[in-house]
Amino acid sequence: MKRELVVVVDFGGQYNQLIARRVRDLNVYCEVVPFDKALQKVKETNPKGIIFTGGPASVYAESAPAIDKEIFELGIPVLGICYGAQLMAHLLGGKVKRPDFKEYGKIEFDVKETGGLFKNIDGKNICWMSHRDYIERLPNGFKITATTDMCPVAAMECADKKIYGLQFHPEVVHTPRGIDILRNFLYEICKVKGDWTMGSYLEEQLSLIKESVGDKKVLCGLSGGVDSSVAAVMVHRAIGNNLVCVFVDHGLLRKDEGDEVEKLFKNTYKMNFIRVNAASRFLSKLKGIDDPEKKRKIIGAEFIAVFDEEAKKLGTIDFLLQGTIYPDVIESGSGHSAVIKTHHNVGGLPKNMRLKLLEPLRLLFKDEVRRLGEELEIPRELVWRQPFPGPGLAVRCLGEVTEDKLKIIRESDAVLRQEIAKHKLEHAIWQYFTFLPNIRSVGVMGDERTYFHTVGIRAVTSTDAMTADWARIPYEILEKISSRIVGEVEGVNRVIYDITSKPPATIEWE
Ligand code: XMP
Repeated sequence: MKRELVVVVDFGGQYNQLIARRVRDLNVYCEVVPFDKALQKVKETNPKGIIFTGGPASVYAESAPAIDKEIFELGIPVLGICYGAQLMAHLLGGKVKRPDFKEYGKIEFDVKETGGLFKNIDGKNICWMSHRDYIERLPNGFKITATTDMCPVAAMECADKKIYGLQFHPEVVHTPRGIDILRNFLYEICKVKGDWTMGSYLEEQLSLIKESVGDKKVLCGLSGGVDSSVAAVMVHRAIGNNLVCVFVDHGLLRKDEGDEVEKLFKNTYKMNFIRVNAASRFLSKLKGIDDPEKKRKIIGAEFIAVFDEEAKKLGTIDFLLQGTIYPDVIESGSGHSAVIKTHHNVGGLPKNMRLKLLEPLRLLFKDEVRRLGEELEIPRELVWRQPFPGPGLAVRCLGEVTEDKLKIIRESDAVLRQEIAKHKLEHAIWQYFTFLPNIRSVGVMGDERTYFHTVGIRAVTSTDAMTADWARIPYEILEKISSRIVGEVEGVNRVIYDITSKPPATIEWE
């Protein structure tokens, strides 16, 4: 079956992946392609539509990302957003200008022409603007379809050639009718049917996996996280026990987590599942180490060593299953940024094993992986689990990692999670956990002086972990969590709450 495709041409804007996710939410498959490879991709795939994203450049800048005008001659509908619309105007003979004002934030726009992008949308609406340059003069054949007080061309179209431009961002939630505008582009202008659903993706992948794997064996490094779990359940459904899952328990998991993972995959799914209890190995490697980056490197290397040893015991294996997802695959045009933390995701590829890679999630965004998980009827607690770092509690245990300190983190974290669940806050908070800042302070319990550990609580709201804000957990709930931790967890006499956003802090303390 040939699936409908929309090509999202990446000009470097901050919302590029968001545009792609919105299109997919509207049941249309799309791929994000860097601007300099887009024309070739369009010619090869003949997509139903093309979307130009925003970007930080000005069309007049020397190295401004651009695209050959030929893209407008192929008869494929094009929608330009922000920089994408300015580039479109510039290439087609209009004029883009840098005014002495900046339009930023929630702005009212006035629809001048309904129909097209604005089918069933008229009058005044709110949109999200974030631009310096604007389109001053339209290219020939275009007409203005919306304006704002400051911006003469908030939207434009050349319906004959199916070319549309928006100065504002329909992909962000601050543009309430944005999703309807994108829907109009896809369904009214590109005339898609909308064949991208997780049900159809699952069916297609199951037969692809069966076909490519045949009766060969597949190895999976299962961490119990969302991606590796969804990938494993899907491949297990396709090839049964020719999938071997190795779960390396590095002893840095949350309370009872190792047992829960084992129970689910071994007992419920009846998978070919091997648990390696390697806690003491990891702890002895981490002895005396307090530098966060060194800890991450040791854990990453040890993980691969353990996984490698187990894999060698298994005899002939042909494929390695990996939970790679689409954001890891998208080629970005932007340069290198500084390494803040080395993310060693558990599940690294043993270099000396010559295995073929099986990556059934490689086309999916994280929210689609979760929807696929639901399609596969994986328990909701797992599918909607909060992110958990590969190096586990080691990066929440500041200074040297010891079993005593890990125990305090596990117990206090369990209390926090129980209270968050009890008050139904799991979905309102992106990530929440306790950590041990490695300080002791004086306290008084009963009539006794204590000199015990301080436990920190970190809870943040976020959409992608790139930026985050500290969660405003109600004081009464914080009070309950604090008194339960001090009362129930041995060796703790003080609880603190981290009220720093990211940036300048990060989510984890190490
Ligand atoms: P930071 O602390 O950088 O974290 O704000 C952003 C997100 O990444 C997770 N994180 C990690 N995940 N390996 C991982 O797989 C790591 O080494 C690692 N360090 C941080 C963190 O939990 C948050 O969701």
